Formats: sequence, structure tokens, C-alpha cells
Amino acid sequence: MKNNVVEATFTDSKTEKYYAWRASNYEALSHWETEPHEEAVRLAGAREGQSVLVAACGTGRGMDGLAKAVGPKGRIEAMDLSSAMIEQARAKMEKMGLSDRVHFRQGNVRSLPYPDESFDIVYNGYMFDLIEKKGFVPILEEMRRVLRPGGKLVLLNMSKPDGRKTFFERIYRFTGIPCRPVLMAPYLESLGFSDVQRRYKPVPARSFYEKLVGLLWGQEIVTARR
Ligand SMILES: C[S@@+](CC[C@H](N)C(=O)[O-])C[C@H]1O[C@@H](n2cnc3c(N)ncnc32)[C@H](O)[C@@H]1O
Repeated sequence: MKNNVVEATFTDSKTEKYYAWRASNYEALSHWETEPHEEAVRLAGAREGQSVLVAACGTGRGMDGLAKAVGPKGRIEAMDLSSAMIEQARAKMEKMGLSDRVHFRQGNVRSLPYPDESFDIVYNGYMFDLIEKKGFVPILEEMRRVLRPGGKLVLLNMSKPDGRKTFFERIYRFTGIPCRPVLMAPYLESLGFSDVQRRYKPVPARSFYEKLVGLLWGQEIVTARR
């Protein structure tokens, strides 16, 4: 498969250490990701009583919207490599009165500890941009395995407008930033997911910081059905 993204520089153990350090300030330094999460939750279209897997839940962005949508009869399974990020998400859900329907688990999405066909929706934000290229297909296969037939996969990633190499990709490995832009729709198509749709979202230029970030990368929301 043609793959126009650069290789990741982080391993899982480096990622875990990095997010143990970032957990307490993560949201303050990536606020432009809030609106794409809101849109991704809307596109997920969760309904009352449904089961949702939030893979790599981080501090729980998007999870509150999903938990409200599935209601008290629904179920949210949330997992992440980083227990520090999970603790932030857990505190947030408790504060919002939503912890009755959310179950947390520390784990690796490479091996999802759930039975086949157990979720209506798999929701995953800003994780594939950390994962090495050869990990994409096995992880997507795991996500497909746990989705019910007709279930929806929603991926939100650091991305770029098209397949051309960007300035940030040229400097990425020298920056110390763990994430780089990815393009996930072609993988979903090649794995036989249906109704694959990609929406590209530039970073809004509301502050000097956002203007700078917006020159370096953008974001994509990719939805598909099993
Ligand atoms: C950039 S943060 C995004 C967190 C959250 N999804 C969000 O959008 O705010 C990436 C998250 O992915 C998690 N992660 C990375 N690789 C993972 C893996 N192999 N299994 C589970 N979680 C992983 C990290 O621990 C971190 O919490």
C-alpha cells in the first residue's frame, strides 16, 4: 500500500512515560482538539443503550459526549496505555456524574481485551499519529474484530491536507514531539470497511500559538462502518 506518512519515533514504553508526564497539562496545551472531538462525537451518532469502546481514552475528551448519548443503560469501555491519563479521565467522569456507565482499564489497543462483536462504536482520538506504520493494520483489525457488523469506527488524528510531504514531516524526528500527521482512510478502505469518509480540519488560527501549530499540521476525522 502506498503510504505517504513518515515513520513514528516513539515506542509504546516511551509513549507511556511521556503521557505519565503530560497527563496533568495535556488538555491545556492542545485545546484546538476540543472542537474536532465535538464533531467526531456527533458523527459517531451514539444512541441510548449502545456500547462504545473509547480506545486510547487519554484524559477523556469526547467521552463525556458519548457517555451522555448512551445514557444510564449504555456502556462505555475506556482503555489507555497510561494510568496517569486514565486517572484524569476518571476524575472528569466522576465530576460530571457519568461514572455509572464508564469502565476504565489500563491496556494496549494492540490486543483488545473484549470479545468479538461487542461494540456499536469504536472511538479513537489522536493515537494513530503515535503508532509505527506497521502497527496500523493489526490495530485496525483488532478494532474491526470488536465492532458489531454495521458498527461504526471513528478515528480522529493529527493529519495533513493530502499525501504531499509537509515541512513538519521533514523536521518531525528532530522535534521531540511524539505525534506526526497520518492518513488513515486508505487503510480502512483496503481492510474492507464500508462507507469510509474523511473530513480534513485545519487548526483554527485564534491565537499566535494556534497560528503556529496550524502552519505545521492539521487534523482528520475518518468514519467507517464494519
Ligand atoms: C495524544 S493522546 C490522545 C488522548 C485522547 N484520545 C484525546 O484525544 O484527547 C494519545 C493517547 O494514546 C494513548 N496510547 C498510545 N498508544 C497506545 C496504545 N498502544 N494502546 C493504548 N493507548 C495508547 C496514550 O497513552 C495517550 O493517552
